Amino acid sequence: MQYRAAVLTISDRAARGQREDLAGPAVQARLEEAGWEVSRYRVIPDDFDEIFTTLLTWADLELAHVVFTVGGTGFGPRDVTPEVTRKVIQREAPGLAEAMRQESLKKTPYAMLSRAVAGIRGRVLIVNLPGSPKAAVENLEVILDVLPHGVQLLWGHHEQAERLHRMLQDAPPEGESDPHSRPA
Ligand code: MTE
Repeated sequence: MQYRAAVLTISDRAARGQREDLAGPAVQARLEEAGWEVSRYRVIPDDFDEIFTTLLTWADLELAHVVFTVGGTGFGPRDVTPEVTRKVIQREAPGLAEAMRQESLKKTPYAMLSRAVAGIRGRVLIVNLPGSPKAAVENLEVILDVLPHGVQLLWGHHEQAERLHRMLQDAPPEGESDPHSRPA
């Protein structure tokens, strides 16, 4: 299975062109190194509505199995990535964010300042990463190896369930070859 990711850098300064986005491309490079295809990359400002629309569209169009946001998870007044992510996801996946913080704390106490969340909308996983290239890649590194299994659960089993569902519809259980012909 070819795993597909999308990378959304969220930064006012990078979106205005005042600073080159190094974190998004660093995340993209690490993903590609691990065999992932990166199907989308965009830089947008720390704007609630713009983040919301982009995440919702990317998830509902299923542009990728996993959408990574990069930046906007800290305490700054414009850091709203986690709040928007919570509005978009339907099911939280707290273990991913917990693991990233726990492992990152071994590197720096500042890891506790990340408010990153992770969760699922439909079949798409959305994961917040912090905004510096070093922090973003360090956090990605923590969860990278378990993501394929998560994607399998979201997509692979779904396909199996669909197949089973179709099979059961085509072939009713034994002794019920045609439910419509059963005596009333
Ligand atoms: N996690 C790791 N692994 N390494 C880091 O250097 N920096 C932290 C934290 N997580 C860091 C880290 C810092 S300083 C902040 S403020 C938060 O991530 C939030 O970053 P963001 O506001 O760029 O999203």
